[in-house]
Amino acid sequence: MANHFDIRFAVTRREFIALTSAALASTALNAQTTSGLANDRHRPRFHLMPPSAWMNDPNGPLFWRGQYHMFYQYSPVISIAGPKYWGHAISSDLVHWKNLGIALSPTPGGPDKNGCWSGSAVINNGTPTLVYTGVTWSAETEFAERKKGQVPERQMVAVAADPRDENLITWTKISLNPVLAAPPAGMKVVGWRDPCLWKEGNSWYMVIGAGEVGRGGMALLYTSKDLRNWTYLHPLAVAKPNPESQDASRPWASMWECPDFFLLNGKPILLVARGNTYLTGTYANHKFDQHSDGQIDFGSAAYAQKTMQDEKDRRIWWAWIREKRTTEAQAAAGWAGVMSLPKLLKLRPDGKLGVEPAEELKVLRRAKRTIADQKIAPNGPLLLRGFDSDCAEIEAEIDLGDAHQASLRVRSTRDGSEQTLIGYDRDTKKLFCDTSASSSDPETKVAPPLRGRGMEGGSIKLQHGETLRLRIYLDASVIETFANGRASLTDRVYPSSAESLGIGLFAKGGTARSRSVTRWDLAPISTDRFTSGAELFRV
Ligand code: FRU
Repeated sequence: MANHFDIRFAVTRREFIALTSAALASTALNAQTTSGLANDRHRPRFHLMPPSAWMNDPNGPLFWRGQYHMFYQYSPVISIAGPKYWGHAISSDLVHWKNLGIALSPTPGGPDKNGCWSGSAVINNGTPTLVYTGVTWSAETEFAERKKGQVPERQMVAVAADPRDENLITWTKISLNPVLAAPPAGMKVVGWRDPCLWKEGNSWYMVIGAGEVGRGGMALLYTSKDLRNWTYLHPLAVAKPNPESQDASRPWASMWECPDFFLLNGKPILLVARGNTYLTGTYANHKFDQHSDGQIDFGSAAYAQKTMQDEKDRRIWWAWIREKRTTEAQAAAGWAGVMSLPKLLKLRPDGKLGVEPAEELKVLRRAKRTIADQKIAPNGPLLLRGFDSDCAEIEAEIDLGDAHQASLRVRSTRDGSEQTLIGYDRDTKKLFCDTSASSSDPETKVAPPLRGRGMEGGSIKLQHGETLRLRIYLDASVIETFANGRASLTDRVYPSSAESLGIGLFAKGGTARSRSVTRWDLAPISTDRFTSGAELFRV
C-alpha cells in the first residue's frame, strides 16, 4: 500500500493535456439523447452537474441575496481541451440545484476567444462581478505556443447585466478587457491564470496562479481599487523548492493552478489545486510564509478546489470530481465531470484543517436502517441485509480491534466479485479507498498519467483507542468519504453489474467491531439525473 497512495505527484490537468493531447477524443454530443442520460446508472442523482457534456473546475461560488450561485467550467465537447464556458446553477439550500445555462461564453475574436477559464465572483460596490482568465492562441496549438514562451492567458472582468435580477442570468464583459494583459515583465511563467480575490479595507487584492521552471508554483499578488486598474505587487507565496520544478521537460509541474487564499478563524490558508493541498503559515506585509501543509481530500478524482464564505461565515469547499474511465467511455456516455458535495473547512485544535459535509445535506435523508454492535471477523458475512443502495449516506463507527485493515465494502455483488473497500490500514495509518475490484469493465483501466481503478488514500493517525468514524456518500459512480472530521476521500466507480449495490463490513488480518452502521436512502435532487434544461446549454 505504499507508493500508490501518494497523490502529491499526480499530474495537473494541463500537464495531462501536454502529455496526452494527441490521444484525446473531442467528441460532439449529437448522438446522445436526453433519455439515455437520464437512464445512465453511472450518472449521480444528488450531485450538481450540467445536463450533458463536460464539466471541470468550480468557478466563482457566491452567496447573493439568499441564494448560492455556482459557476463551473463547461464545454460542449467531452474533452479536457475543449473550449470552456461558465455554466451557472443556483440553490437556496446548498443541496437542491437548478441549472440556469451559460453565464460566460468565449467572444469570437476577443481576448477570451479560445475559452473563459477559471476565476472568482465578488460583490463590488453592490455589483456582482466575475473575474476570470481569458485564453487565446493562434492556429498553432496552445502547447506549441507555451513551449515558445508565449502566455495565452489574460485576466478579464464581467459584471451582472442587471443586479436587480436575483438569478444573475446575464453578464456583460467590460469594455476595458483585458484588465491585465500580460504577466509581470521579466518573468518566464509557464501559466498565469485562475484569479482569486479578497478585500482589505478599500482595496481589492487578487492572486493569480503561476509558476516558473526552476522556482516552482507561485501565487502572484495584485491590488486594485476598482477591479479594473491593477498593480502587481509581488508573489504572495512561492512553492518550497522541489525536484519537480527543476524539470524543464515537464514545465506544467512548476505551476500552481487555482490558488485560493482566505483567513479561517483569523489564520491564513492558501489552497493550491495539485493534491488538494492546503498550506498554513503567516501573512504579513501581504506575503504568505508557509509553515506546513496537508491535504483536504486524498482522492485524485477531486481537483481544482475552490472555496466561498457564506452569510453564516462558513468556509465552504468545492471541487471538480473528474472521471476515472477512458476518454472513449466518457465520450460514449455523453457526459463527464461532477461537482463535489459542499464541504465545510474547520480549523482543528492542532492547527490542521478538518473537513466535514455541510449539515444541509441531511435534508436528503429518507429511510433509515441501523445495525448496532457487530463483530467483523475476517471470514464474516459479506453484506448487511437490506442495506443495498447506490444513492445513500452511510454513517459508521468502527473499532479496528486487532485487524490490520477494516471497515466497509460498498457497491458489491452478492458474491463479492465486484466490490469497493473503504477502510483504514493500521500499519500505514492510512484511510483508503480500494477500487481495484470495483468493475470488470476494461474502460476503467486507464493508462497513466490518469488514474483508473486502484488504491488511493492518505494519512490520518487514529489515536490509541480512537474509533474510525466514517460518513460515506454513495451517488452512482461517485463515492465521497469523510473520516473523523479530518479528511475526505473522493473516488469514482463504474461497476459492470447493475446488481453491485451491496453494502457490508470487512476485516483483514484480525477481528474488528462495528459499534454501529446506519444507512439512509437519499432523495435524488432531480427526477432525471439532472438532464433537464439541456436547451439552456446550447452554444
Ligand atoms: C484546472 C484548470 C485551470 C484552468 C481551467 C481551464 O483544472 O486547468 O487552471 O483555468 O482548468 O478549464
